[in-house]
Amino acid sequence: MNSAVSESVAVVPHEILQLTDVRVRFPVSNDWLGRPRGYAHALNGIDLQVRAGETLGIVGESGCGKSTLAQVLMGLVAPSSGALSWANGNKGQGSSNVQIVFQDPQSSLNPRLPIWRIITEPLYARGMRSREQMRDIASKVAAQVGIRPEYLDRFAHQFSGGQRQRIAIARALSSDPDIIVLDEPTSALDISVQAQILNLLAELQRARNLTYILISHNVSVVRHMSDRVAVMYLGQIVELGSAAQVLDQPRHPYTRLLFEAVPRLGVPLRAEQVAAPTELPGNRNLPQGCFFRERCSLSTDGCQQPQALETGVRCHVQQ
Ligand SMILES: Nc1ncnc2c1ncn2[C@@H]1O[C@H](COP(=O)(O)OP(=O)(O)OP(=O)(O)O)[C@@H](O)[C@H]1O
Ligand code: SF4
Ligand SMILES: [Mg+2]
Repeated sequence: MNSAVSESVAVVPHEILQLTDVRVRFPVSNDWLGRPRGYAHALNGIDLQVRAGETLGIVGESGCGKSTLAQVLMGLVAPSSGALSWANGNKGQGSSNVQIVFQDPQSSLNPRLPIWRIITEPLYARGMRSREQMRDIASKVAAQVGIRPEYLDRFAHQFSGGQRQRIAIARALSSDPDIIVLDEPTSALDISVQAQILNLLAELQRARNLTYILISHNVSVVRHMSDRVAVMYLGQIVELGSAAQVLDQPRHPYTRLLFEAVPRLGVPLRAEQVAAPTELPGNRNLPQGCFFRERCSLSTDGCQQPQALETGVRCHVQQ
């Protein structure tokens, strides 16, 4: 019994990153003095913990802020307000190591570099210069993703799409990052290759206790990979919970709309398939109260108040 207790204690994942009320706005269309005429409000108060070793799925329509969130994590976009705090003591954004695997390995791999250089790019960016050390790491990581070390001097175009995505995964792994963002990691690949890449990602995660943030429109990919799922709408998280809870028993009216609009599993979610009465509202002027109010069939008294993400759902009706 004791061992069961200590086991369950041991598997409680620890938090590696906390985002607190993170907001990002981008200036749009400057006037003749260079002053912004307005702002695109891309992230509007993100509160989120990332836990070591988990896969956190992020879903939501095009333009809801998924890539902006990824860029904030990578330190490429500074929050306009709010804070990132890393458990390793680094306070600011960009002070920890977050790598990304993009959708299209064709365009994300430099065609002029041999793949050992591509794989070790993050190490080079962090100051490593020893060719021998870099080749050594590249060959080990390549082997882990199923690329033969004798191919290290080849160029990206000499590989198939699936192999190129393996090289992109090797690049994301080589610097031993705190978090790997997977931004639609299989949607540009042939169906036959997608499962192999997902299995590889799952195996690597098990072997190295990797932490993934998975951005995907594909419900079956999210279900297959994720421990927890966050649903984003207009730069906010509207629902957050275990994958089973969010995908099988969605509570927020937006999550229901999003998943009900998917005719069957495996079909990608696209904004145009979400049969809502209106489009995703513009993010120049944010709505008052609940952001989903003008599309929500359950809208009632109290919805004109801002909603909090208490108990994992940003809706006072569905608490
Ligand atoms: N550099 C930028 N300058 C101005 N606006 C931006 C910039 N980057 C993003 N935005 C705006 O921020 C909002 C969120 O964009 P983001 O790319 O994060 O969405 P997304 O959820 O990743 O969409 P998709 O599913 O299409 O990739 C959009 O309104 C977008 O136009
Ligand atoms: S708070 Fe009101 S408008 Fe917003 S999702 Fe809930 S019921 Fe709909
Ligand atoms: Mg995006």
